[in-house]
Amino acid sequence: MEREKALEILNKYVKNDFYITHSLAVEAIMRKLATKLAPSDVELWGIAGLLHDLDEECSNWQEDMSNHGPKSIEILKKENFGNDIIYNAILAHNPLNGKKASNDIEYSLLAADPMSGFIVAIAKGYPDKKIKSVKVSSILKRFKETRYAKGANRDYMASIENTGITLEEFAELSLEALSEIDNILEL
Ligand SMILES: [Fe+2]
Repeated sequence: MEREKALEILNKYVKNDFYITHSLAVEAIMRKLATKLAPSDVELWGIAGLLHDLDEECSNWQEDMSNHGPKSIEILKKENFGNDIIYNAILAHNPLNGKKASNDIEYSLLAADPMSGFIVAIAKGYPDKKIKSVKVSSILKRFKETRYAKGANRDYMASIENTGITLEEFAELSLEALSEIDNILEL
């Protein structure tokens, strides 16, 4: 239903496989978080994850990071898709556009985005490159090593604690989510 339409829009605007895979990873984490925080909105949370980087290839964010987010909303409105909850979550995942996270879905997306890349980076560092080899303790250890995978914003990841979920629980849920789609991630 709605998810299929979201995927169709994603595939229309995002051509790079890397971002499609990343979007699916963030979706998986968002769905997992929703089962804890908003059990009746699992699909909605998943869709916010799926579409959070929709404008990646058409927002010239490389020149101005504040474009990342607002352009996605513009596209979604043109496609007649989504609602304010999804729009605000997408905006809030990039605080550089001025929108600050202020509710559970917004904090979750802000945190899930870097966490997905962080776990993938850890898995890729292992000889077998498997998500299933990653342990929660390794995620927490690496989290404190500020020079490791610097691009994964620790403050954004830690914002999950505003939802009442601890960083440890978040690492556990995220790992579980990514393990379930390891075939899609090819890890
Ligand atoms: Fe992202």
